[in-house]
Amino acid sequence: VKRVLVLNGPNLDTLGTRRPEIYGTTTLSQIEGELRDVAREAGLGLEFVQSASEQVLVEAISARKPDGIIINPAALTHFSHPLADALRASGVPVIEVHLSNIHAREQYRRLSVISPVARGVICGLGPAGYRFALEALARMLSGR
Ligand code: DQA
Repeated sequence: VKRVLVLNGPNLDTLGTRRPEIYGTTTLSQIEGELRDVAREAGLGLEFVQSASEQVLVEAISARKPDGIIINPAALTHFSHPLADALRASGVPVIEVHLSNIHAREQYRRLSVISPVARGVICGLGPAGYRFALEALARMLSGR
């Protein structure tokens, strides 16, 4: 069974209550529940790691050796070269997801140091972006 690692960065544990006008009212555990349903259909294994710590995220990538990665790096998106290096070194397809459209907000959010190592980037589609990312990875990992 191919395994997909779903990584969420700083503050995404407070989804649902943090700035709902921007990030919506869906919680991270609701998103994880929906992804579990998609994974079951697709016959994929799923692992979730949420952390405010860059170190925890970097170590999860090397320790868990997944077949594909979905990552919402949150604010680490904009400056974490260690995270970008770890994703690149993993050698597996990475889909970067953002709930909000990072290009329609403050200027500093427009730069992602993660995007150059991503196979694809989804932003601005809210929680559904995670589902679309998993569907895309399912296709890639089955060679379709
Ligand atoms: C975010 C966008 C980032 O700029 C921000 O720091 C976040 C969430 C998003 O999902 O829209 O924490 O990654």
